[in-house]
Order: sequence, then structure tokens, then C-alpha cells
Amino acid sequence: MNSFKTIEWQNNKVLMIDQRKLPGKEVYIECTTFEEIAECIRDLVIRGAPAIGIASAMGMALGAMSISDDCSYEDFTKRMKTISEHLALTRPTAVNLFWAIDRMNRLISECRDREVKEIKNLLKTEAINIQKEDLITCIRIGENGAELIKDNSVVLTHCNAGGLATAGHGTALGVIRSAFLQGKNISVISSETRPVLQGARLTTWELERDGIPVRLITDSMAGHLMSRGMVDSVLVGADRVASNGDIANKIGTYSLSILAKHHNIPFYVAAPTSTIDGKCLSGEKIIIEQRNPEEVTHMDGKQISAQVNAINPAFDITPADNIECLITEVGLFKKPYEKSLSGIIKKNQ
Ligand code: MRU
Repeated sequence: MNSFKTIEWQNNKVLMIDQRKLPGKEVYIECTTFEEIAECIRDLVIRGAPAIGIASAMGMALGAMSISDDCSYEDFTKRMKTISEHLALTRPTAVNLFWAIDRMNRLISECRDREVKEIKNLLKTEAINIQKEDLITCIRIGENGAELIKDNSVVLTHCNAGGLATAGHGTALGVIRSAFLQGKNISVISSETRPVLQGARLTTWELERDGIPVRLITDSMAGHLMSRGMVDSVLVGADRVASNGDIANKIGTYSLSILAKHHNIPFYVAAPTSTIDGKCLSGEKIIIEQRNPEEVTHMDGKQISAQVNAINPAFDITPADNIECLITEVGLFKKPYEKSLSGIIKKNQ
């Protein structure tokens, strides 16, 4: 499964599928500089928490390659700091971006005694490893979560937490893919995810390619379907998980969690442990990215509203209390999350 590459390191260039153009066109963008990678992250060429983590690591590797081998270790670290800061300013909410940058910088600080040329190669290998590990992680998330998905059931998902948002397989869609591959008769309802339409454009595209039954709804239809017994579970990804179990995910996730709670429908979150931010104590501390209001007032470059201001928060916070279970590559976590997540948080420090 996954007949496309979200992102790939190829001959010292980074290739990524242009997610802004999907599902209409399948085109790949080639980046040769860290600035180009940053632009791709900001403009949503590549999006989804784990995928932007991989992109930022590859951006750091590209940045390192532009530095001369003759540079001193001190000057190299100074240049890499500027590159890290540039990449870190792209999008504030998904912690994977910062997690990957920190991991690359940790490697640099462990290489104090090595030649700059060697460090550059190690950074390249580390970025590629982050990608390889993410694929394995997603497969494990899928295997761990599949048991929660009942045979003959309908799963509602929001935004895109699929292969396009990761190195492949996906987190929430990884669970769906794994359950489907186990032979379970499942079908998916994808909410369109206004304003950027990740659900309508990307999730339906991925699932359709894999032959997994999927139906599209507008965001406002979810409550009605739940009230008519047409949804058996809700399964989403996350951009950041606070240590108390609150999560940030695509705008609209919070409303779905309330609807699910009201209708007694289990609400699951699938995410790698790299999305758990042990330093963040609760959801209210998570910075919510505010995007260009034109994403709301315009569609395909055409104005769809009167000339008014719009509000465009890209994410919202779902309180831990609404989450039945957090599915990760190392297992399933339940309430109270302060307690169940504490071991992982300690280990990741
Ligand atoms: O703005 P986006 O498209 O980057 O938002 C993506 C999401 O909210 C996903 O649900 C989340 O990153 C999890 S992806 C495995």
C-alpha cells in the first residue's frame, strides 16, 4: 500500500509530492536548499506533523551541505543554529517539527571532535533515518490500533493523518489501513476539513487508491450522522499531545470530540510518541497557528464571502477527557494520561 512517496532524499535533493495540487495533479517539487524546504512547509506543499518533522530534518541536512568542509566546528554550529531557527519559524503547532530539529542539533553537539565533512554526512544519514523510523512507527501504530476497530464498522476521520502526513502508512489512516489489511469490513467517513480541505482532497485520494471504502461529508454533517447511528468510532491524528493528554489537531477536531462524547461514540487519537510534548503541561499552553484569512474567504483563488474579515485558527485543542485512547507505536494509553504517559515522557527526556 502507499503507491506514492510523500518525501524522499534523492541525490542530495529533497523531492516531495505537492499536496496543494492533489487530487487533481500528482506533481513532485524538488528542493535543493533549506530555504526552499521552509517555504514548502509554510505553504503546505508538505503538511502533517510527522511529515513536517522529516522535512525539517532534511532541510537541516541540505543546509549543512551548503557549508564548506573547511569551516571550523564553531562556525558550523553557528550556521546550523541560523538554519534551525529559519526552519523552526515555519509552523508553530506540530511538535514533530521541533522534535526533529532538536534531534539533528543533538547530533551536532555530540560530534564536537569530528571533522565538519563527517558531521555533514552524519546529518544526512540522520534525516534519512528519521524518515525510515517514521514508516516503521506508523506500521506499529497501525498494528496496535487495529484491535480497536470493530469488524463491520464505520470510522469517521478528520483532516489527513495518512501516508501523506507521514513517511507512509499514516497514523489514524495507518490504523484504518492495518484493520482493513486484517480483513475487517470497514468503511470510512472523511470530513472535508474546511478551509484547506485535507479530508476532501487528500484522505479520500489516499483511501480510494488503496480500495478502502470512503464517503465524503462536509464538516457540519458529522453530528447528524452520529445521531442516526451511522458512525461507530472517530479516529484522528494529533499535532501535539500535552503531558495531561490534551491534544492539538486540525481545526474541527474538538467539535467532533464533543459530538462523539454526546453520542457515546469512542474517540481515538493515533500519534507517534514523538508527538508527545512532555514539557507542555496542558492544551492551553499549545500555540495555535493562525493562517491567512484568505483561506476562509476564498476558494481556488475566488472570493466566496462578502468583503469581511475572517478568523482562521488552523488547529484546536481536544481535552484529554474526551479521548478514549491514545494509540502509539509503543502501545495504547488510557486515562488518566498524566499517569499513563509519565513513563514515556521520562524516557524521552
Ligand atoms: O495543517 P496540517 O494539514 O498540517 O494539519 C495536519 C493535521 O492536523 C493532522 O491531523 C496531524 O498533523 C496528524 S498527521 C499524522
